[in-house]
Amino acid sequence: MSRSVETLFRPFTFNGLTLPNRIVMAPMTRSQSPNGIPGPNVAEYYRRRAENECGLIITEGTTINTPVATGDANVPQFWGEESLKGWKHVVDTVHAAGGKIMPQIWHVGMTRVAGKATNHDLPSHGPSGLVKPGSKKSEPMTTKEIKDTIKAFGEAARDAREIGMDGVELHGAHGYLIDQFFWAGTNERTDEYGGDMVGRTRFAVEVIEEVRKQAGDDFPLILRFSQWKQQDYTAKLANTPEELGAFLKPLSDAGVDMFHCSQRRFWEPEFEGSDLNLAGWTKKLTGKPTTTVGSVSLSGEFIGSFMGEASEATGIDNLLVRMEADEFDMVAVGRALLVDPAWSRKVHEGNFSELMPFKPEALATLS
Ligand SMILES: Cc1cc2nc3c(=O)[nH]c(=O)nc-3n(C[C@H](O)[C@H](O)[C@H](O)COP(=O)(O)O)c2cc1C
Repeated sequence: MSRSVETLFRPFTFNGLTLPNRIVMAPMTRSQSPNGIPGPNVAEYYRRRAENECGLIITEGTTINTPVATGDANVPQFWGEESLKGWKHVVDTVHAAGGKIMPQIWHVGMTRVAGKATNHDLPSHGPSGLVKPGSKKSEPMTTKEIKDTIKAFGEAARDAREIGMDGVELHGAHGYLIDQFFWAGTNERTDEYGGDMVGRTRFAVEVIEEVRKQAGDDFPLILRFSQWKQQDYTAKLANTPEELGAFLKPLSDAGVDMFHCSQRRFWEPEFEGSDLNLAGWTKKLTGKPTTTVGSVSLSGEFIGSFMGEASEATGIDNLLVRMEADEFDMVAVGRALLVDPAWSRKVHEGNFSELMPFKPEALATLS
């Protein structure tokens, strides 16, 4: 028998933004915005989730204004008149459908494959030029390049506010630029942007401060982070709760409103001796709201999906138990919302038998 789903449908307020329920659409790259400009199809894609009770949409990663923030010309950019006009249409469409929306602001760092990318003659940017430990592809970023990049993050947040977005999420997870600064495996700097765990948060701290400066203290700011990296699924930024606390403190103090704690399976405990997951520990250690994510209502996790594995639809009792205990505040749903824009509504109505399995073919259309 299923537990009551009402716990998921309580409103939640943070930094002045009230969300109608606890369900977030996880950011998912689509690469369907030619020349970086999101067209009407992007607005329609998000509208279908907004009108079906998804409480907050975090958009696909959208890139800041530096020549090397992405290598994919079909990833939407978050700068320039045409792109911002496209995004404004997305915001207005989602709002008209009763939804809330924030862009996920992104710089891919060293995962950009320079020779194949847009601006292919320019080397990719990373703290130490490393894609992963031992794989150096370019020179470390100069201090000027770091400062210019921080400024571009702030400009994107300012523009998000100007076009009516409900906040921003910084992509600090999965081994992209911000995470490349966090991770000792890709950050070997000995200046103020490297060194120990706290030194390695410095870049993100300055990005957060710049967002605050350009978009204001009252603009909701989420930071997504992960222990795992696409370069190494077993990597960890923090091996103990104490280390996690030391990592999170400067970020929290700098002004993060909510931490989005990316796991591939939300039910996995983060450290031995406790059932708390990464979002649970992060909430406990910082006192800030958190969002969990990872295989909600699906049997298999998302990296497997990219390798062609299908996932069955499952129940969400484990999620509801943790939500009732306020282990975390929000839950992000990725692939289940990709295959079924009506996922939130079906859950609200208790129609669990109608939840859909995930078939990898869905990655070809991303509609
Ligand atoms: C097609 C696809 C694209 C993704 N793109 C992004 C992205 O742009 N930014 C990001 O932080 N995570 C991205 N992710 C990860 C998801 O946000 C989410 O963390 C992951 O899919 C796990 O959630 P799920 O098990 O509910 O799918 C992507 C996942 C998928 C399936």
